[in-house]
Amino acid sequence: MADEMANITLNGKTFSFPVHSGTEGEKAIDISKLRQQTGYIALDDGFANTGSCESKITYIDGEKGILCYRGIPIEVLAENSTFIETAYLIIYGELPSRKEMSNFSQKVLRNASLHESMLHFFDGGFPFTAHPMAILSSLLNSVGCYYPQMVTNQREQDLEHFDDAAALLLSKVRTIAAMAYRMKNGLPLIYPKRDLGYSQNFLHMMFTEPYHEYYPHDDITKALDLIFLLHADHEQNCSTSTVRMVASSGANLFASVSAGVCALWGPLHGGANQRVIQMLQEIHDSGDDGTKFIEEAKAGKTKLMGFGHRLYKTYDPRAKILRAAAEKVLQVVKLKDPLLDIAQRLEEKARSDSYFIDRNLYPNVDFYSGIILKAIGMPTDMFTVMFAIGRMPGWIAHWREVAEREKGKIIRPRQIYVGSPRRDYVKMRHREGEISSDYESDDHKSYGGGASENAAAKA
Ligand code: ACO
Repeated sequence: MADEMANITLNGKTFSFPVHSGTEGEKAIDISKLRQQTGYIALDDGFANTGSCESKITYIDGEKGILCYRGIPIEVLAENSTFIETAYLIIYGELPSRKEMSNFSQKVLRNASLHESMLHFFDGGFPFTAHPMAILSSLLNSVGCYYPQMVTNQREQDLEHFDDAAALLLSKVRTIAAMAYRMKNGLPLIYPKRDLGYSQNFLHMMFTEPYHEYYPHDDITKALDLIFLLHADHEQNCSTSTVRMVASSGANLFASVSAGVCALWGPLHGGANQRVIQMLQEIHDSGDDGTKFIEEAKAGKTKLMGFGHRLYKTYDPRAKILRAAAEKVLQVVKLKDPLLDIAQRLEEKARSDSYFIDRNLYPNVDFYSGIILKAIGMPTDMFTVMFAIGRMPGWIAHWREVAEREKGKIIRPRQIYVGSPRRDYVKMRHREGEISSDYESDDHKSYGGGASENAAAKA
């Protein structure tokens, strides 16, 4: 019997359900027996009040603006850690020792290249107009085909190869992303270097040209590494929930993270960072100082992209860190970007406007990350790809949590059907002669005639 119980009274009858508590004091009513006991289900559009699992990876207090990976505040990690070290922490639950870190980094580095036959995908396998998120999702799934021992869809066997698969995905997501960019820009495909760190290697693979080796400024590398770190996990967001849902069917890690990329692509999730820059550019081009745009957002005609969050009802702690980082990066690249001024002006206006105050709408992680990525020289259609690279450790850790569950239930919510009950509808329409049982259009007949009809026509 749980310490605390919640009672629900339906038609005069009271049912009791146990209350669960998290380690940070969060409370949840366990309704897993609700339908069995009452015949009712819970309806929660958008799952805003539904805990889909218990997890040890990330803690968020949206009211207080707290985000912790494995119990450690994001500010501490941003200040003292690197993306790869944080990735290890998220995946394995502990900060690595010096030796563990060295082994992990080596493993990530050794896995950076793609199998040569995968390079054909970048040579006519996709049109130049392909969005890099489509390429990324396809190729993350494809890359698993080269490692059949890791993609058996047998939980125990896939878990046996988990360490290799995790390092491989962390590494190859970056190579695939860079190659997608190079293909689109007609640049020759190049390989990662042994002597460069994770983010430095990525920038090298992105921007080195045939007669110009690109070695990023340390502050640029640090800023990108910070962006990856700040995106590394965010509990049950849309893409992570997608990864967990796919994983719950027993699907392998590669298929699950590939689905995560698709979920991330949407403008209400990871696609927002690309939309923020488009929005700032449009405001700039129209000569608006932000006032008109804010009024349109308040009237529901548009949305202030990079603002608002399902969980944060105060400043997103990641946005606070990135606001400062954006100013620093612009100093390094000696750029005076008018879009940063517009972003800061929009923030000031929104934060003194009752519409935004009453709805607790503050900048989220996407509001300032785009300014940094733009300053680094990243094209806007690669912004969401940067998010995907950063989120990879989180997806990997969540896949593992699902795969290791003892009972291993498939995630399968219910619904309330609100369409028409039409049990006799087909019979009735047939009786009335309004629909026939076969497809009888003229097109079908001539198409069905095929070769003999064409021959007759020629004769
Ligand atoms: N601009 C203007 N109004 C907004 C915004 C916004 N960015 N966000 C929310 N609102 C308004 C809604 O219109 C609604 O108003 P109403 O009460 O008068 O109907 C109210 O605030 C509540 O908003 P919901 O959409 O119900 O909030 P929800 O939690 O469902 O959505 C979301 C959160 C999707 C992030 C939303 O704030 C949004 O669309 N923001 C812009 C897109 C964005 O930046 N996405 C990135 C999210 S962070 C991430 O994925 C990393």
